[in-house]
Amino acid sequence: MLKAVIFDLDGILVDTSIFHGRAWRKLVEDLGHQPPADLEERVKGISRMASLKIALGDNARRYTDTELADLAEKKNQVYLSLTRTISPADLYDGVRELFDGLRSAGIKIVLGSASKNAKPILDSLGIASYFDAIADGFAYTHGKPHADVFVTGARMVGADPAECVVVEDAAAGITAALDGGFVAVGMGSHASLKHAHLFVKSLRELSAQRLTDLHARFRSDRWTVVREGIHPSREASLQTIFSIGNGLLGIRGHLSALPLGKSWGAYMAGVFDRIRRPDPNPDAWGPFMQYWGDASLARGEQIEVCILPLPNFLDVRLFLNGQRVDFTQGVVKSFTRRLDLRSGLFTVEALWQSPDGKELRLVERRLADWTDTRRVFVQYELEAMNFSGPVEIDAGIDTAVVFNMDNIPQTPFEVTARYGAGQACMVEVRGKSDGMTVALGSRLTVHDRPETDYNILVEPEALYVHAQADLRQGQLLYVERVVVATSSRGCADPLACVRACLPEAAKLTLGQARIDSTALLHQLWTNSDVLIEGPASDQLAMRFSVFNMLMAASRDDDGVSLGAKGLTGELYRGMVFWDTDLFMMPVLSFTQPAMARNLAMFRVKGLPGARAKARRFGWRGACFPWETAAGDENTEKWLRLLTHQLHVSADVAYALQQYVDASGDMDFYVRHGAELLLDTALFWLSKLEKGENGKWFVPQAGGPDEYHVVCDASAYIHHMAAWNLRAAARAAAYLREHSPEQLSAVLSRIGMTREEAASLEATAAEIDPLRRDDGVLEQCRGFFALREEAADPKKFYPDMQCTQVVKQADVVMLMYLLADQFDDRTVRANFEFYEPRTQHASSLSHGVHGLVAARLGLHEKAGNYMRRSMGMDLHDEMDNAAWGIHMAASGMNYVAVTQGYGGTRFTDGKLHVNPHLPAHWQGLTFRTFAGGALAEVSVSGNGTVSVSNLPVSKAKLTIVLAGKEFTLQPGETRSA
Ligand code: G6P
Ligand code: MG
Repeated sequence: MLKAVIFDLDGILVDTSIFHGRAWRKLVEDLGHQPPADLEERVKGISRMASLKIALGDNARRYTDTELADLAEKKNQVYLSLTRTISPADLYDGVRELFDGLRSAGIKIVLGSASKNAKPILDSLGIASYFDAIADGFAYTHGKPHADVFVTGARMVGADPAECVVVEDAAAGITAALDGGFVAVGMGSHASLKHAHLFVKSLRELSAQRLTDLHARFRSDRWTVVREGIHPSREASLQTIFSIGNGLLGIRGHLSALPLGKSWGAYMAGVFDRIRRPDPNPDAWGPFMQYWGDASLARGEQIEVCILPLPNFLDVRLFLNGQRVDFTQGVVKSFTRRLDLRSGLFTVEALWQSPDGKELRLVERRLADWTDTRRVFVQYELEAMNFSGPVEIDAGIDTAVVFNMDNIPQTPFEVTARYGAGQACMVEVRGKSDGMTVALGSRLTVHDRPETDYNILVEPEALYVHAQADLRQGQLLYVERVVVATSSRGCADPLACVRACLPEAAKLTLGQARIDSTALLHQLWTNSDVLIEGPASDQLAMRFSVFNMLMAASRDDDGVSLGAKGLTGELYRGMVFWDTDLFMMPVLSFTQPAMARNLAMFRVKGLPGARAKARRFGWRGACFPWETAAGDENTEKWLRLLTHQLHVSADVAYALQQYVDASGDMDFYVRHGAELLLDTALFWLSKLEKGENGKWFVPQAGGPDEYHVVCDASAYIHHMAAWNLRAAARAAAYLREHSPEQLSAVLSRIGMTREEAASLEATAAEIDPLRRDDGVLEQCRGFFALREEAADPKKFYPDMQCTQVVKQADVVMLMYLLADQFDDRTVRANFEFYEPRTQHASSLSHGVHGLVAARLGLHEKAGNYMRRSMGMDLHDEMDNAAWGIHMAASGMNYVAVTQGYGGTRFTDGKLHVNPHLPAHWQGLTFRTFAGGALAEVSVSGNGTVSVSNLPVSKAKLTIVLAGKEFTLQPGETRSA
């Protein structure tokens, strides 16, 4: 609930900021100095003494502290004389109406201003009596952009920051509000306030209702992942959920200022190398590996592709009076981590007492820049609570990083250059096998201390910039750091590129980078947000899931895809599996078509590799790799998954068609998509064999369930292959009509005959559906005859392939993917048959079950599955979040909420909406692309549904709502 609105004074209630600006300018000019051109903007929200330093710039050094105090007083006299005539008539438009509205809504009104003249000005304006509390320049310690002022104001009326909105005209004020966890409204110059949650030109645009709605949408407890304390046993999983990234870089949430051991982990999209793996030794294989691996192929040393772990480019050491700040020593009095999903900012705030009793408050803020993805900004905020003395900072790059393959540490790269001078150090490393190069540069600046000396420390495996500064009790010291990271994927000479970019990047601070990143992310959230009116934990988990996709997917590179762990861990060696296409890509296909197109192009570019794989095993067409780094097959040659997990080809085709259907990107369809659909169809044609019953079947290929991989006639494969053939037939028909030359070119390129192209539909109809009379599909031939056992999630089934125990959604996947092909009775029959047999030993299972259960109206089951899926990482549901984000579960959370609970399904050019909201949700709103139109779907707890074709839409939208069909032009809405 919104408890209080905190208003800044100058520039929000009254136009005094011009008087401040004028008074400073006069003071500086009278002294014979040149004031900075943007003086007026820069002193907004800034305390009197800090403003003076801005106004004087370098000239400030010429004056003693007493002289500075006199100058500030002199400015204030000028300012007061300018404001003497202020009267109620000067009050900005809309203030009284807004205040009256807030009052009658029972929302407290608070002042949060840096000004020490606030009270008399409120009196002159005649509005002092409205205020429930006044936090002015006398009330708190640290000025804006520190959050102190607003936190103080909130406390004065007994509110938590998450329960307040701040209204501000200064960039520093918005930063303070966001840092403190407030919802922020900006008013004034949009360019400097674009990181606010809402921007208005006048208070007349605000009302108690609008602020209440805004607050409901953006209150920080629904956007910020927060964890208190240090938990050694859970550190690794915490470091996973506090990972940051920007589509190029991924950095685990390790604690750089807190030497708790080796916890570093950072990766760059598309930067891989090959690593030697010891002999797999089949003699030591357990039952699973004996099933999944072919011992006869598993001899000799293995070389495997894996993502390259980067050197620790955020390494930091702090010393107080020569004593290392080490949180394993002394007492950690408080410790909070936060990840703000609106800005991508990760913050650690700690209050630490050293063994000799010094109390230090340390805040580390960390941001992977979203606007220039090569940059990472870090800010350390230090406050000496009970002492004064020197602090030393070593900020550098540590190359003592290992890759843990089979628990055998290997050095992943060789260091090819190290260089340090002045405030910067640089390192270049090269992958040992493939020679991909990564260059890193780090630059350190002690803020506001131009006299600081910097020197370079060289250690055997690390390089640091060293600086020293004085900490004075009660004062804040800010240390800024920027890192630039590039690779030979991004530029020909990465080191030269870092050298060129670093000085430019160092002109910015974290605060400025954060403004731009927040603004950019805001654009993404506009379409990708899923608003849940219900428990904050559900809302946060939903946003966290979407954020994982946004921060891992590239916005400008179609040569990279999303690995199973995104860029948050080394498990699966950074590889891309079928989960990317069916679990992760939908978030982007439905909400960020440009990013989805990159993922689709990654698969299109993988066609040569997919063809090569098909040839390698004597098949035709395109057989997509089971695991891949850059598009080609990278599965170990002895793993049966290589030859038997063939469903990935249909999955890739399905996801690509889904992208086209959502975005309406027919240009992509004609130029690239159709070819992929036809080439994967050709693969299935080459795999099909005639069975004894006269129907086609696919031998030796299993569906998603990894407990039954080596089998004939998998229902999943059959239905998806048939779907693939039909999609290819549609593609051929489309090309025949719109681009016959392209059809000829594609058919001859992939080697498909006209007869084959013409036979696709008929062949699809003849594939064995493996359907029993009661509608239950047999997972694979002979499955019903296997030993029946109830699935126990904790049990180990050494002979799982001989049982009906299923590892993860398999046939149930079909009930979701091909929903139109099965009536409710069939979906229910299959769910009821397979659900008790499913062990959910994969994180890919829960969300799919949640989705199908929701569509069937099985609320309790849906709720239980969704709780586990939504908590997969945030609550470490499977005790393995330590290894990195479960990207597939994250992606499926989005699909299950929007398609299961939200009940949307786009088929045959129509958006069907048939929601099943959980009882404890009062509303659900989200956007989805459908046939090139952008729809907004809003479901309320009482069952009302409204669907809009948003005004920005480029196409009309056909919807099916409560059984009726409507066509909406852009800007039109329908409710039922
Ligand atoms: C506000 C203004 C600043 C001013 C500060 C201190 O935040 O925006 O420009 O420097 O108050 O004001 P004072 O009235 O105490 O000098
Ligand atoms: Mg102001």
